[in-house]
Amino acid sequence: MTNWRLRAGRWSIRLTLRQGAAYNFTSLTLLQRIIVSQVLAQTQSAESISELASQALAELDAVPDADSAEQWRVAWLGRRGQITGILRSIPQLEPELRREVGTAANQARNLLDEALSRRIRELAEAELAARGALDVTLPGRPVVTGRLHPTTQIVREVCAAFMAMGFSVVEGPEVELDHYNFEMLNIPAGHPARDMWNSLWVDYVNEDGQQPMLLRTHTSPMQARVMESQEPPVRVVVPGKCYRYEATDATHEWHFYQIEGLAVAEGITFADLKGTLYEFARRVFGADRQIRFRCDYFPFVEPGVDMSISNFVDPATGRRPINRDEDWIEIMGAGMVHPRVLEGVGYDPQRYTGFAFGMGPERIGMLKYGIDDIRHFYRNDVRFLRQF
Ligand code: DAH
Repeated sequence: MTNWRLRAGRWSIRLTLRQGAAYNFTSLTLLQRIIVSQVLAQTQSAESISELASQALAELDAVPDADSAEQWRVAWLGRRGQITGILRSIPQLEPELRREVGTAANQARNLLDEALSRRIRELAEAELAARGALDVTLPGRPVVTGRLHPTTQIVREVCAAFMAMGFSVVEGPEVELDHYNFEMLNIPAGHPARDMWNSLWVDYVNEDGQQPMLLRTHTSPMQARVMESQEPPVRVVVPGKCYRYEATDATHEWHFYQIEGLAVAEGITFADLKGTLYEFARRVFGADRQIRFRCDYFPFVEPGVDMSISNFVDPATGRRPINRDEDWIEIMGAGMVHPRVLEGVGYDPQRYTGFAFGMGPERIGMLKYGIDDIRHFYRNDVRFLRQF
C-alpha cells in the first residue's frame, strides 16, 4: 500500500495505491490519469511484478481446498485480479516502460496459471486419497486375453506326444511341386490314385508347358524332402496347412491341417507303427479310448492302413463323443513306407524300412472335444473359440 499526495497547480489529490490493483482510468480526469500513470510508473517494474508473483505463489501453496483456490484465482487472475490489473494498466504507462512491464506481467500470469492447475490437481488427488478412493472390495475388471486357436492347441499337443517319443518337428512349404506332392510319393502323372487328391493348381506354366506347382494336398511331400536332406535314422512329425479343391461338409474343409509322421531306420517293423500310434492315442485321448486299424490303400505305403478312434456311446452320459451315428471315426492313414519312395530319395530299401502316418488334427479335436462340424474351426466365431 502506498500513499501519494500529488500536487499539480491548484489540484492536489491523495491516492492510495495498492500495488497491482486495477484502476478504472476512464472515471479519472485527464490530469488525474497523467498523475496516476506517473505513480504507476514508479510502482510497477519487472522487479515488483516478480515479487508480487512470489507472494501469489506462497499464498497458493497455503490454499487448503478447491474453494479457496478459486478465491485465489479471482484475487490474482480474475477480471479484477491483481495481475490482470497490471496488464490493463499497461496502456497508461510511459512507452519505454510498457515493454518491460508487459513482458513481466505476462510471464507472471502464465506462471500463476500453471501453478493453479497444478495445485487444483494436487488438491483433487489429496481429496480422493482422504476419501479412500481405492475400494479394494470392488470386483476386479476382467482382463480380456487372447488365446491359442483350438487347432493350434491340438497341433501342439499332438507334436508334444510325438516329441516325447523322440520325434522332432519340421515344417515345409504350402506351395509345393508336383514332384514332391505326387511323383516322389509313387503317384506318377496319369496314375488313377491322383484322383484321391482334388488339387488347387498354381496358375504357372513352365517352359515345357507343364503346370508344376500346386497348393499341397497333404503333408506327405515332406517325407521325400526330409529324407533327401539327411541320412537315416529319421524320426519327424510335420504339422502344416493343406488344401483341396472340394466341397465342404461337416467333416470336410477345403483347407485344413495335417500332421505327417515318418520314422525310417534299420529294422523298423509294422509292430513299431502300431506301438507308436497306440501310444499317441493313449496320450491324447486317454487309456480307455479304443482304436482300430483297417487295411487301406495309399500309393506311398505298403501295407497301408487307416486308424480310427472309437465313437461309442458313453454309458455314463448316454452320448457319443461326436454326435453322429458312427461307432468309429477315421483320424489318419498310415503304413510301411513303400520301397519305391525309399529308392526315390536314395535310401537302400534292403537295408532301411520305416513307417509313415498322416492325420487331421481338426478331426482329432472333434473327437476329443465332441465338436460335430469341422467348419466351426474356421468360422472365427468367438462363441466357439472361447470354449478352448
Ligand atoms: N497323405 C494322406 C492323405 O492326405 C494321409 C496319409 C496316409 C499319410 C498314409 C501317410 C500315410 O503318411 O502313410 O490322405
